[in-house]
Amino acid sequence: MDIILLGPPGAGKGTQAQRLEQRRGMRQLSTGDMLRGAVKHGTPVGLKAKEVMDRGELVSDEIVSELIDAELTAMGDDVGAIFDGYPRTAGQAESLDRILASHGRALDHVIELEVDEDALVERITGRFTCAQCGTGYHDTFKQPEVPGVCDKCGSTEFKRRPDDNEETVRTRMAEYRAKTAPILPIYEERGIVSRVDGMAGIEDVTRAIDAILG
Ligand code: AP5
Ligand code: MG
Repeated sequence: MDIILLGPPGAGKGTQAQRLEQRRGMRQLSTGDMLRGAVKHGTPVGLKAKEVMDRGELVSDEIVSELIDAELTAMGDDVGAIFDGYPRTAGQAESLDRILASHGRALDHVIELEVDEDALVERITGRFTCAQCGTGYHDTFKQPEVPGVCDKCGSTEFKRRPDDNEETVRTRMAEYRAKTAPILPIYEERGIVSRVDGMAGIEDVTRAIDAILG
């Protein structure tokens, strides 16, 4: 099963994708995580992407679609994909169709996380992740069970994203409204869009997604 999680910055795409990985053995394909990895390793893609990401704007369609194609090639046909933060433009939506077809795959569900934008700034500015394994946390909504120790891998090192400041978040939201929200009708025409209340608690959102996926 291949699905897209769609929603503005801080909607909970990454949080829910990680939970789907654990519960269903699916694979999270986050273009944001891939780009941050490229920046960290100083690859040519990373060098191009860094400033664009720091401003909260979108990296080019070609770059992200190539990243997705390479990941799908590497991961094999028997594992379901969770597209997190991709596609984000009409061009990327077209590329995804083409890439999936070339791998003999097709989309089963597009799940839109519906959220209140004002609450998202608090979510994003309180976010941190494990520096070792990437598990996501939040100052208010999801602290590690033992303070200062990652639930998943036991690491005591955590990090925050450079684009998680209020000004950049506002740009990221504007980009979402202008370029990403308009791709929903492509999938609505196919009858594969479901909506989930992304303002509910993390567990409740997971339950709602489970009910859609069956
Ligand atoms: P990306 O990394 O994709 O960032 P984003 O879309 O802005 O989304 P976020 O990762 O900020 O939010 P999320 O929905 O994953 O929320 P999370 O689960 O962490 O992209 C970053 C940048 O890379 C872009 O700006 C762009 O420059 C570039 N880029 C990436 N993909 C691209 C593409 N396809 N094309 C072009 N450029 C691209 O949750 C947020 C916080 O809230 C967490 O702390 C979490 O614990 C908490 N939380 C989650 N759910 C809940 C809940 N239900 N209740 C309470 N708290 C919750
Ligand atoms: Mg994310």
